[in-house]
Amino acid sequence: LKIALLAGGTSSEREVSLKGAEVVKKALEKLGHKYEFFDPAQDLPKLAQRAKEFDCAFLVVHGPGGEDGTLQGFLDSIGLPYQGAGVLGSALAMHKGISKSLYKLAGLNVPEGKTFSKDSSFEIIKTYGEKIGFPLVVKPATQGSSIGLSVVKDKKDLKKAVEAAFNVDREIILEKYLKGKEITVGILDDKPLPVVEIVPKVSEIFDYETKYTPGLSEEICPARLSERLTKKAQEYGLIAHKTLKLRHYSRTDMIIVEDEIYVLETNTIPGMTETSLLPLAAKVAGYSFPALIQKLLELTLR
Ligand code: DAL
Ligand code: MG
Repeated sequence: LKIALLAGGTSSEREVSLKGAEVVKKALEKLGHKYEFFDPAQDLPKLAQRAKEFDCAFLVVHGPGGEDGTLQGFLDSIGLPYQGAGVLGSALAMHKGISKSLYKLAGLNVPEGKTFSKDSSFEIIKTYGEKIGFPLVVKPATQGSSIGLSVVKDKKDLKKAVEAAFNVDREIILEKYLKGKEITVGILDDKPLPVVEIVPKVSEIFDYETKYTPGLSEEICPARLSERLTKKAQEYGLIAHKTLKLRHYSRTDMIIVEDEIYVLETNTIPGMTETSLLPLAAKVAGYSFPALIQKLLELTLR
């Protein structure tokens, strides 16, 4: 196959994207596919001109401009198939407030929380924060990899956290902080993969640094859960995938507190770096990294 490999982009997850693309490149070489690299930050006009030369695109881009439906709409317009969610699913999943409302409608548990826009006064945000209580999480509505996210333990630190989140997005979410077992459920070919458990070793939360520095967290797959909870987590992952209108694959992050599973968010282009979670779950399910890429290419061209 001849593949347009899209990586880079303009979001704050650019580095994560480029790291993942290196791993994907090696897999494509191993599989004997030809590829050419395009960076959505500047190469889209060139790709539009040359779309007919490629069988499909493969996306390793995260965050706004890559994972939020805009790139997907562009590829639809130039007639190039790509793996993963289309325009609607990408847009729904990118906005953590909207996806949360949809999870709730589908009967999934979510941490109590609310979306605020830049127009809201800090007083209103603070009043809500006091209502749900501390510690709480402040995060941008449409960023991945925990960028702009803070756990606020004390009321006096709320303002700083709110400003940090507004720095990267015009909408933010305040959410009850849940302390529990962090897990993630990958979906491949619309079926759940084994559950991955994440144990941050240094930081209390699975933040940006912990996510991308090998050794700062331990990933255990299959997760140490009862059969009942494993099944339930997988079922939740699949419900999230279907509710958000996703296809081919996705990865939903959850947290378990006292046998209750709470859904946090769904990634429509899950990370593909050496330390990333969906490739690990796929491996436990019997897919080597190249086999995972091949499967995604087959789903794209099906
Ligand atoms: N947003 C990153 C890439 C992930 O969750 O995998
Ligand atoms: Mg994520």
